[in-house]
Amino acid sequence: MCGIVGHVGPLNSTSPAGTPGSGRSLEVLLDGLSRLEYRGYDSAGIALVRPDGAERLTTVKAAGKLDNLRTALDEAAPAPATAGIGHTRWATHGGPTTENAHPHRAGRLAVVHNGIIENFRSLRAEVEAAGRTLVSATDTEVVAHLLDLDFTARLADAGQDTDAVDPGSATTTLVESMRAVTARLEGTFALLAVTELAPGAIVAARRSSPLVIGLGEGENFLGSDVAAFVAFTARAAEVDDDQVLLLTADSVTVWDADGKVVTPREWEVSWDASAAVKGGYETFMDKEIHDQPTAVADTLLGRVNDRGELVLDEMRIDPSVLRSVDKIIVVACGTAAYAGHVAKYAIEHWCRIPVEIELAHEFRYRDPIVSEKTLTVAISQSGETMDTIQAIRHAREQGSRVLAIVNTYGSTIAREADAVLYTHAGPEVAVASTKAFLAQITACYLLGLYLAQLRGNKWPDEVADYLENLGQMPAKLERLLAEQEDMVRELGAQMADQTSFLFLGRHVGYPVALEGALKLKEVAYVHAEGFAAGELKHGPIALVEEGLPVFVIVPTPRRPVLHDKVISNIQEVRARGARTIVIAEEGDEAVTPFADTVIRIPATPTLMWPLLTVVPLQIFAAALAKAKGLDVDQPRNLAKSVTVE
Ligand code: F6R
Repeated sequence: MCGIVGHVGPLNSTSPAGTPGSGRSLEVLLDGLSRLEYRGYDSAGIALVRPDGAERLTTVKAAGKLDNLRTALDEAAPAPATAGIGHTRWATHGGPTTENAHPHRAGRLAVVHNGIIENFRSLRAEVEAAGRTLVSATDTEVVAHLLDLDFTARLADAGQDTDAVDPGSATTTLVESMRAVTARLEGTFALLAVTELAPGAIVAARRSSPLVIGLGEGENFLGSDVAAFVAFTARAAEVDDDQVLLLTADSVTVWDADGKVVTPREWEVSWDASAAVKGGYETFMDKEIHDQPTAVADTLLGRVNDRGELVLDEMRIDPSVLRSVDKIIVVACGTAAYAGHVAKYAIEHWCRIPVEIELAHEFRYRDPIVSEKTLTVAISQSGETMDTIQAIRHAREQGSRVLAIVNTYGSTIAREADAVLYTHAGPEVAVASTKAFLAQITACYLLGLYLAQLRGNKWPDEVADYLENLGQMPAKLERLLAEQEDMVRELGAQMADQTSFLFLGRHVGYPVALEGALKLKEVAYVHAEGFAAGELKHGPIALVEEGLPVFVIVPTPRRPVLHDKVISNIQEVRARGARTIVIAEEGDEAVTPFADTVIRIPATPTLMWPLLTVVPLQIFAAALAKAKGLDVDQPRNLAKSVTVE
């Protein structure tokens, strides 16, 4: 995980304050770090470079959240800088201390890094043998020293006195060193380096860790994602694996693995900066729960033509290949895997293709049965989850086509897949996923209906019906939020002392139960378990005791067999003393005698049910966590984007 940001402006530090690039690197880096903090938040730091003054390279870092870095910067009061790099960390090698915080300095340069260097032990021995003393336990500091050793040696070979070296030669030399050093690294990295000898440059490299370029007017940027610079420019460009980059105020040069200059692909960022701020809500999670009607609507937008047919232009897999698919394997983790679990019910029903749900990290390490007729569907909000990346690589090696359902444009999964169906949920900042889950289910349903349309399974009436139902979901979500939110919040606040919860559901309600339990665990640190309601009698019912809160997701009474079975399950737990909180359709009075609390949901066909029923569970988890005084957006031990295995 970790978030990195870089900024380089013009060297003329006498330009009027407030104009682009006029020594404003510190301001840009802090803004970028505040937007990237969701990627990791156990320490943060920056390195600033300026062309003159006694100290031309300054690093300031602090353990803990970004506010601690702000305090350290207030004390250090660094002079305005023309270039700089910043980092917000989620610890991998070495604990969350100030020493282990990035940037790491070595000689005349400083480095920030996202990723893991797998051969760092042997490299560490090498730099120590070369006389360097390391002060941290990180793999990154080893890279900083390797880079500085190579840089210093090249300058010396060229007969350059390092104090008087021309900045142009220093820049070229640092690019050469970056190429030489990264060629020796095993593992993943997005690396940014600055040196006091080249105050108008940032040199960077990437392999399997996210990195994007931001193109400004008279200044340029780098970031782990576009949120890092979206306040300053909407022009972004991609960085591919094993590329080396040089950024100055007015140029961006990218070399490929063979040292050839290449032109990076540009795009316009459609998120505005305000999409990444709280917009009046107390937390990002609250805001993102309220973004859900829009997330679903935007994911549907432009994908149905006037004749009610699905048109998925992004589907770059040949229709004949899609017609011959005989198995779908969904690879994903956490909430994204639960979205896939919901989709299994729908896709099998619509398309009669078997769908397997695989936790990406398990899929890779066993011997899955994958063939050229298998379609692997990778679901990921960030598009950077390393477990999922490795799973799609594993699937492709065995001849499977890979379709990605991803929220982040230009992310690694989006780029490595054969085709991408984007969820248009906008930036999701809270660590706990909410709107991405709804957008993922929506996109999976579009995929299922598209396959049904293509293969002639359910065409045209049923597909059109389901599309119409999906189209009604944003309005139903708005109504649900308007009518139930206050009550559910109050319930969450009242139950802050509870130490254990169960969640039960059947059919598509089962993955919703799993997701409800996950939300509570991750934001409120409460023990919570989700079960298929039918599984209760096979063991978990032994957990039920007087006063245990049990959430039950009840299907529509228009599916009487399913509905009545769940009513029996409510009775079973209530008879053993459970406090039942029942999520049921409006007008379903059969639940009333057995419910201590009822949360009402607009009437909806069974397969659409997850898009509504999960919302009260998200609200409940956030409210309970707040009542406990917890940081809802940044729960302990977690990070938004899990870019390590
Ligand atoms: C839970 C949550 C995680 C993610 C999982 C996959 O709220 O956010 O379980 O769903 O880490 O992340 P992505 O979707 O980015 O691949």
